[in-house]
Amino acid sequence: MLRVGVMVSGGGTNLQAILDAIDGGSITNASVQVVISNNPGAYALERAKSHGIEAVCLSPKSFPDRAAFNKALLEKVNEYQLDLIVLAGFLVTIPPEMIKEYRGRIINIHPSLIPSFCGVGYYGLKVHEAALARGVKITGATVHYVDEGVDSGPILLQKAVEVKEGDTPEVLQRRVMEEAEWKILPEAINRIANGERSGS
Ligand code: GRF
Repeated sequence: MLRVGVMVSGGGTNLQAILDAIDGGSITNASVQVVISNNPGAYALERAKSHGIEAVCLSPKSFPDRAAFNKALLEKVNEYQLDLIVLAGFLVTIPPEMIKEYRGRIINIHPSLIPSFCGVGYYGLKVHEAALARGVKITGATVHYVDEGVDSGPILLQKAVEVKEGDTPEVLQRRVMEEAEWKILPEAINRIANGERSGS
């Protein structure tokens, strides 16, 4: 059984997709041991609790400096003996010590087809604003392993999504979530849980 930890900062719809896929049997051999947020107000924490999953908040603001936060985050993650860490809308830079210790065992969902619209500054709605500004006709989402760079690790899965006439960033964001993110993130976890390993 793959022991999964999910790290979140916001609404947690990707977390919900993972929990639904486990309940519905499209993810097998995996269980979510903990959900960790940097943001005490993250609705994702409520989703975890109402699923009977431990929900932990570690806010950088409660620590004297980033090094102290990074240390506490790694210690917290280590407590759960996780096989896989899933970044599902986690807006905090993963400490280098954690990347080193969990190399090949951290995945992230990014709402574009990497290498388009990724890297420093491309997060949340900004990704979709940039895609619309460039006028691409196809966008999508990517699940990739996390390395020391920003959105630079090996790609595990991608799914394309059509951009439609009149799309706003919000409309496009929603379509990318529904048609791509909520599908490929659970699928990636299922693949890893059932033997696929790469990116390490
Ligand atoms: C998603 O768009 C994801 O791709 C990005 O952050 C957003 C998280 O949304 N990394 P949610 O919290 O899962 O609803």
